Amino acid sequence: MPVAYVDMCGIVGYVGGQDATEVIVEGLRRLEYRGYDSAGVAVIASDGVQSRKRAGKLANLEKALAESPLPETTVGIGHTRWATHGAPNDVNAHPHLSEDGRLAVIHNGIIENFAELRDQLSSGGVRFLSETDTEVAAHLLAVELRDSADLTEAMQRTCQQLRGAFTLVAASADDPDTLVGARRNSPLVVGLGEGETFLASDVSAFIAHTRSAMELGQDQVITITRDGVEITDFEGGPAKGEQFEVTWDASAAEKGGYDLFMLKEIAEQPKAVADTLLGRISEDNQLVLDGLTISDAELREIDKIVVAACGTAYHAGLVAKYAIEHWTRIPVEVELASEFRYRDPILNRQTLVVAISQSGETMDTLMAVRHAREQGSRVLSICNTQGSTIPRESDAALYTYAGPEIAVASTKAFLTQLVATQLFGMYLAQVRGNFFGDEIRGLVSDLASMPNKIDLVLDTMDPVRELARGLKDARSVLFLGRHVGYPVALEGALKLKELAYMHAEGFPAGELKHGPIALIEDGLPVICVMPSPKGRSVLHEKMISNLQEIRARGAFTIVIAEEGDEGVVPYANEIITVPAVPTLMQPLVTTVPLQVFACELATAKGHDVDQPRNLAKSVTVE
Ligand code: AGP
Repeated sequence: MPVAYVDMCGIVGYVGGQDATEVIVEGLRRLEYRGYDSAGVAVIASDGVQSRKRAGKLANLEKALAESPLPETTVGIGHTRWATHGAPNDVNAHPHLSEDGRLAVIHNGIIENFAELRDQLSSGGVRFLSETDTEVAAHLLAVELRDSADLTEAMQRTCQQLRGAFTLVAASADDPDTLVGARRNSPLVVGLGEGETFLASDVSAFIAHTRSAMELGQDQVITITRDGVEITDFEGGPAKGEQFEVTWDASAAEKGGYDLFMLKEIAEQPKAVADTLLGRISEDNQLVLDGLTISDAELREIDKIVVAACGTAYHAGLVAKYAIEHWTRIPVEVELASEFRYRDPILNRQTLVVAISQSGETMDTLMAVRHAREQGSRVLSICNTQGSTIPRESDAALYTYAGPEIAVASTKAFLTQLVATQLFGMYLAQVRGNFFGDEIRGLVSDLASMPNKIDLVLDTMDPVRELARGLKDARSVLFLGRHVGYPVALEGALKLKELAYMHAEGFPAGELKHGPIALIEDGLPVICVMPSPKGRSVLHEKMISNLQEIRARGAFTIVIAEEGDEGVVPYANEIITVPAVPTLMQPLVTTVPLQVFACELATAKGHDVDQPRNLAKSVTVE
C-alpha cells in the first residue's frame, strides 16, 4: 500500500502568554499560501472551549471574530482547510467539537477508515453535524477521554484506531494549559519559544516568534505546555522529536524552503501520486473507487468516452486515451474543451464525458460539461479542488490529492491526473470484465510503485538543470515522442512556452518527414522522449531512425531514455535516463525532466517562474 503524505491544510496551536486568537490568526495568515477554502479558531476559556469558523478566506473568519470576539485567553488552536471529505462550508470547517463542547480538534490529512468509525460512533448514539472525517476523530477522542487519565492518553488510544494520513491537534477544557498533537504520514512541527510553545503544519506559522523548532517523527503524540513538550509513541512509550533551528525567512518558509512554489510542487510529486492512490487500492491490490457516484451498471452501458480539458489537463487526457482504450476497448476521443461544443459533437446517454481540471473552475471545461449534460451524457470530472464548480456540476467526481498547486505551471496536478485516469481506466475494465484478477493486481502494483520511481528521477536532475542553463539563449526547442511519449512531448513544449516565453513545439516523431523536419537546422535543440526498448521494439527502432534523421541534419539531440537503453547512445548529444516502467505509465517518469528543464531555463532567464506573464492559475473566462 502506498505510504501517503497529505499536507494540504494549515494547522496552528498555541500555549503561552500572548492572546491566543491573535497569535493563531496571524499564524493562519502565514499559511494562506497553502491554499484553503475555510478557516476556524477555538480557544480554551474559563467556561470551556469557544470557537468561530467560516467558509471562505481568513477575512470571513476575522469578520466573525470582530462581530463576536472570543474571550482573551492564552491557549488555542486554528485551522485553514483544503477540503477533501465534504464541501467547503461553515459546518465542515475546523475545529470540530465533541458533543459536550469541551473538546476541539483540528486535522490535516485523510482518515481512510473514517466511514467505519463513523458508523461505530453513530450506533453508540453520537450525532454528527458535518460530512468530515475530522469530526469522527473529535468524537472518538471524546469517547476515549472518558476512559483515559488525560488528553494525552486519550489521543494515544484514538490514534491506534485511525488508518491513513493525519495530523491531529486537540484542545480540552479539562486540560486548560495543554494542547495535544499527533501525526502519521502528515507533517507537524513544534515552535519552542520563551514561555510559549507552538504546533503547526509548517514553520512559517511561528517563525515570527521563534526559530527554535522540532520536527515530530512518524506515529508520535506530543503534549505541549507553555514551558515545554513531552513526546510519546502511539502506545505511550517514550519518543523524541528532531530539534532544529529555522534558517529560512518567512517567504521561503511558505515554499517549504524552496525558492519557488514550482520547485516545491515538482518535489512533492511522489507524495501527490501516493496521496491520490491512498485508499483506492485494497490490501489484495483490487481497485476501490468509493465516491464514484456512477453505478457499475451505468459504466457497463458506456460505449464511448470523450475527454474534455485544456492545456496540461488536455495532455493528461491524451495519455489517458492510450490507457483506457487498451484496457477497456472503448473508443476515447480527447477534445480541447474550448473547441468541443462548437463542433456539434455526437453525444448521448451512452457517452461518458470525462472533464479533467486541476482548478475545477476553467470556464472552457465547465461550458463543455454543461453542453455534454444538455445532450444527455453523463459527466465524470477528475479534479484537484474539492467543492469547485466543475465537479459540482458533474454526475461524479474522482478527486486527485495533489494538494494546493500554487505555481501557474501545472506539475504535480498533471501526474496525479495521469494516475487518476489510469485508476479509472482499470476500474472500468474491472467492472466490465475486460480484466482477470491477476492482470489488475499486476497493474495496480505497478502503479503503487510509481512514487518511488518518480523519487529516483528527482534525485538525478542536476545534469538536466545544467543543460537547461546552457540552452537559455536558444531560439526554439522541439520535442518529439511516439505513443504515450507524444503527449509528453506536447507537455514539455507547453512548459517551455509558458515559463521561458520561448518558441517550443511538440510533434509525434512519425510526423517529422511530413513537414516539420524542414525546421531542423544546425544546433537546434530537439528533446526526444524514447519508447521503452523492451517489448516496444517497433516504436523504439522507428524512434532511433527519427534520431538519425535529425542528427544527420545537425540537431542537438537530448534523449530521455530508459536506463540501459544502449541503442540511443550513437545519436544523442545528451542522455537523460529514467527508470524502466510499464509503457502506459512512462509519462509519470518522462515528464519530470521536462518540468525541471523548463523551470531551470526560465529561472536562468530571470523570469517569474511561479507567476509567468499573461497567465492565470485558473482561466475562469472563455
Ligand atoms: C498548465 O501548466 C497551465 N497552467 C494550463 O495549461 C492549465 O493546465 C489549463 O489552464 C487547465 O487548467 P485546469 O486544469 O485548472 O482546468
